[in-house]
Amino acid sequence: MGQVEGKVAIVTGGASGIGAACATTLAREGAKVVITDIDDAGAQTVVGKIVAAGGEAICLHQDVSIEEHWPGVIEATERRLRAYWDRMPFVLTVILRRHHPTQPSPIQGEGFS
Ligand SMILES: NC(=O)c1ccc[n+]([C@@H]2O[C@H](COP(=O)([O-])OP(=O)(O)OC[C@H]3O[C@@H](n4cnc5c(N)ncnc54)[C@H](O)[C@@H]3O)[C@@H](O)[C@H]2O)c1
Repeated sequence: MGQVEGKVAIVTGGASGIGAACATTLAREGAKVVITDIDDAGAQTVVGKIVAAGGEAICLHQDVSIEEHWPGVIEATERRLRAYWDRMPFVLTVILRRHHPTQPSPIQGEGFS
């Protein structure tokens, strides 16, 4: 049994890099993974790799810097993974400050820096 068997994991920025690696690892460890990103094609490619390896994943379009996108992601996750929703989902956000530390984080608001 995987370390996160049956849990729901939302991975933002999951279409490439660290996010894609996290999404793939979580799926391998048994999580139902929701990949969100502004790169829809990249997200779909990661979903395809996870499903081909026997895992379960879906992708949703989300720009994490737009606060209004968040409720839709949670609602779509609940709707599409309802069978697992009773288990507390967790959100892994790997988009932080971009490569220039002087630029503001794309995620604004309380609790983010
Ligand atoms: N502190 C460190 O040592 C360290 C090391 C490596 C990376 N990082 C940081 O970690 C983060 C991820 O790095 P990476 O190499 O995986 O980057 P990456 O560019 O490969 O992946 C980032 C993903 O986020 C997506 N994305 C960008 N803006 C978005 C937005 N507004 N909404 C939704 N998705 C968005 C991109 O489409 C991409 O798929 C970056 O912010 C990077 O600066 C920090």
